[in-house]
Amino acid sequence: MSAIPSDRSPESTLAFLREGYRFVGARCDRLGTDIVQTRLLLEPTICLRGRPAAELFYDNERFVRRGAMPMRAQRTLTGVGGVQGLDGAAHRSRKAMFMSIMTPAAIRHLGQLFDDEWRARIPAWAESGPVVLYDEVGRMLTRAVWAWAGVPLADADVPRRTAEMHAMIEGPAVVGPGHWRGRLGRRRAERWAGEVIERVRAGALPAPEGSALRVVAEYRDERGTLLPRRIAAVELLNVLRPTVAVDRFVVFCALALHDHPHWCDRVRGDDAAAERFVQEVRRYYPFFPLAAARVRRSFEWQGYDFPQGRRVLLDLYGTNHHPELWPEPERFRPERFDGWRGDPFRLVPQGGGDHDTGHRCAGEWITIELMKRAVGNLTGSMSYRVPPQDLALDLGRMPALPPSGLVLDGVRRTA
Ligand code: HEM
Repeated sequence: MSAIPSDRSPESTLAFLREGYRFVGARCDRLGTDIVQTRLLLEPTICLRGRPAAELFYDNERFVRRGAMPMRAQRTLTGVGGVQGLDGAAHRSRKAMFMSIMTPAAIRHLGQLFDDEWRARIPAWAESGPVVLYDEVGRMLTRAVWAWAGVPLADADVPRRTAEMHAMIEGPAVVGPGHWRGRLGRRRAERWAGEVIERVRAGALPAPEGSALRVVAEYRDERGTLLPRRIAAVELLNVLRPTVAVDRFVVFCALALHDHPHWCDRVRGDDAAAERFVQEVRRYYPFFPLAAARVRRSFEWQGYDFPQGRRVLLDLYGTNHHPELWPEPERFRPERFDGWRGDPFRLVPQGGGDHDTGHRCAGEWITIELMKRAVGNLTGSMSYRVPPQDLALDLGRMPALPPSGLVLDGVRRTA
C-alpha cells in the first residue's frame, strides 16, 4: 500500500481559509495527484478531486455522513440534526420528503413566482438610481420561496429574513463577527420556523397541500414519528435558505453575460441555449467548495489506505475545473454542454451521485429553473448598464461574490 501524498503541514486550517477554493487543487497540482492528505480542524483529512474520486465519495457502502460536517458549518449553514448528517434508512426516508416537493409542476410554479417578482421590480429599478443585483435578487427569492413553501411573510420582514439566510450561508468559512452573525441568524431562524411548524400542527395555520411547510410539518420518519419541532425547523430552513442562496448564481449569470455579451443574443428566447449557459455558470463559478464524509469501514482504493472514521473531502470546485474532465477549464464556454447527456460524477457544483439514495442536492432542478428565469429576464425583459465597479472574484473568499454585488444602472423595461 502507498502512502497518500501529503502536504506535510502540521495544520492547514489557516491555509484553507486563506486559499479557499484553490486549497485542494493547489496541493494536488503541486504533488501531481488527485488525492492528498492534510490536517484540517486538527484532524488528519483526505482530500480528493476528479471523476473516479467523486464516484468513490458517493458510494454509501464506503462512507457515512454522521459526524462529517464540521460543527462550525452545522451551527451556521446546515443546522444540527438535518438530512445532511443522516445515513442509511433514516437518510432515504428524510430525503424522500424533500424529493416529494420537487415535482416539475412545483418547480415551474416557483420559477413563475420568481419571474413575477422580477417583472414587478423593473419599474422601481427604472425610477431609482443604480441597484445592487445581489441585494435585489436575494429579497425577490425570499418573497418567492416563502410564498411557494406556504410560509407567511410580512413585507416588513423581507429584509431581515433575507439577511438571516445570507448570514447562515456566509457563516461557516469566516472567523469573527461574520461567523457569529451566522450563528445568530440560525438561532433566530430556527426559532420562528419552529413556531410556524407548531402552528401548522396545531391547526392554527393552514398550509397548502404539497407545500414544503405542510410536507415538513406532517412528515413521519421511517418509524412513524413526527420530527421534533427544532429538527422540523432545520428541514424547513433546508428549503428556504438554499433557495435564497441561488442569488449568488444569479449574480454569476449576470457577470457571465457582462463578460461574454455575445451570449445575450444566443440565450434570449432559446431554452436549450439558456440551459447550456446556466450549466456552464454552475461549473465555472465558485460556490460550494467541498463535500465532507467519513470512512465507514477501512478499505483500500487505488493502493491507498482509507482508515475507518477518517474525514474525507471531495473538492467540488476542483472537480468542476479538472483539466482531464473539462478541456480549458478556466475558459467560460457554454458550448461544452452541447449534447450534454448528464454525468453524475463530472459536473458536481451541487454534489454528485443519485438524488434519492445519496446526498446530492435536493434543489438542483430548482436552482437550474431559477437561473434560467433570471437569464430570461436579464436578456429579455430589461436593458441596463454595468457601470465601472469592482467585479473581481476572490477565490480565497468562501462563498465567493463580486465585492460590488453587481451594480446595474439605467434599467429600462423592454418587454
Ligand atoms: C444555491 C445553489 C445551491 C448549491 C450550490 C447547492 C449545493 C449543495 C451541495 C454541495 C450539497 C451537498 C452535497 C453532498 O453533501 O454531497 C447540497 C445538499 C442539499 N441541498 Fe443544495 N444547493 C443549492 C440549492 C439548493 C436548493 C434550491 C435546495 C432546496 C430547495 C437545496 C436543498 C439541499 C438539501 C436538502 C441538501 C441535502 C441533501 C442530502 O444530504 O441528502 N439546495 N446542496
